Amino acid sequence: MSSAEDTTGRDDKQPLADDARVDLDVVFEESQIQEVFDQLDHDLIGLTPVKTRIREIAALLLVDHVRRQFNLASDTPTLHMCFTGNPGTGKTTVAERMAQILHKLNYVREGHLVSVTRDDLVGQYIGHTAPKTKEVIKRAMGGVLFIDEAYYLYRPENERDYGQESIEILLQVMENNRDDLVVIMAGYKDRMDRFFESNPGFRSRIAHHIDFPDYSPDELGSISQLMLADENYQFSDEAKTAFDEYIERRMQQPHFANARSIRNALDRMRLRQAKRLFEARGSVTRRDLTTLEAADVRASRVFVEPLNSDA
Ligand SMILES: Nc1ncnc2c1ncn2[C@@H]1O[C@H](COP(=O)(O)OP(=O)(O)O)[C@@H](O)[C@H]1O
Ligand SMILES: [Mg+2]
Repeated sequence: MSSAEDTTGRDDKQPLADDARVDLDVVFEESQIQEVFDQLDHDLIGLTPVKTRIREIAALLLVDHVRRQFNLASDTPTLHMCFTGNPGTGKTTVAERMAQILHKLNYVREGHLVSVTRDDLVGQYIGHTAPKTKEVIKRAMGGVLFIDEAYYLYRPENERDYGQESIEILLQVMENNRDDLVVIMAGYKDRMDRFFESNPGFRSRIAHHIDFPDYSPDELGSISQLMLADENYQFSDEAKTAFDEYIERRMQQPHFANARSIRNALDRMRLRQAKRLFEARGSVTRRDLTTLEAADVRASRVFVEPLNSDA
């Protein structure tokens, strides 16, 4: 049997002979994981350290897969992760991609992502928390459970907080079901660090800590271009210059949320463009419909009220 035929083989097949050779290029090819990497590179600007970690995890799983073909016993690698970073740095987006990757690499059966927060896991009354948490886990089984702002599960100031019940169930599942469920906890770095200090059980079950840095103004500019192109819009040259200035100002203001603020800003600029076109009441060309002009950008309150956050 050639190595090419073996690469998709599951564990129940005959192990390979001790002197067999498996071509890792072929294994890589057959996993079709390159497509996901290409998509990741295209869809996500920057995030180089994050992308590198994703490739490392993929390599680990591919090698683990080949090791199994040689009957080299080892524990299933633990893949629970923690994504830390400020809002809008891409944590949720990457978690979705991670679910796809883990599925392609046969680590999880289905590859869906169930995204929850404390309120989805913890009940208001006695006896409600365990069924709630178990229901969420059941939905996530075979995929990825993404717990956003996971530190809210732990409220040391409330002596009998129901969060503790959820924590205990999660810890158990993370230990016992780690070959069919990956848990990704996300949130601000400092709060997550404190959460792990008080809950060392989580820290020891999490294999990969990945930090999402804030984007640079240049990266935010590229993100805006990508987002616009995806929706068949573009900036005029003057609008592009204006938007670079917008980014600089917006970054200084409260509640700045990286790529999320960019997306929100673009939505508002599209509204202004539509209003401008409609009020002119003339005929429009394809170019008119696709172009955001400097006026659409500069009408933002970011340019007049330096401390207003929701302009
Ligand atoms: N590197 C990036 N390139 C392009 N778009 C991005 C990037 N990072 C985030 N986004 C976009 O910004 C928005 C917020 O990202 P999200 O993953 O929800 O951030 P977080 O979960 O860290 O708050 C989403 O619309 C996402 O598609
Ligand atoms: Mg998020």
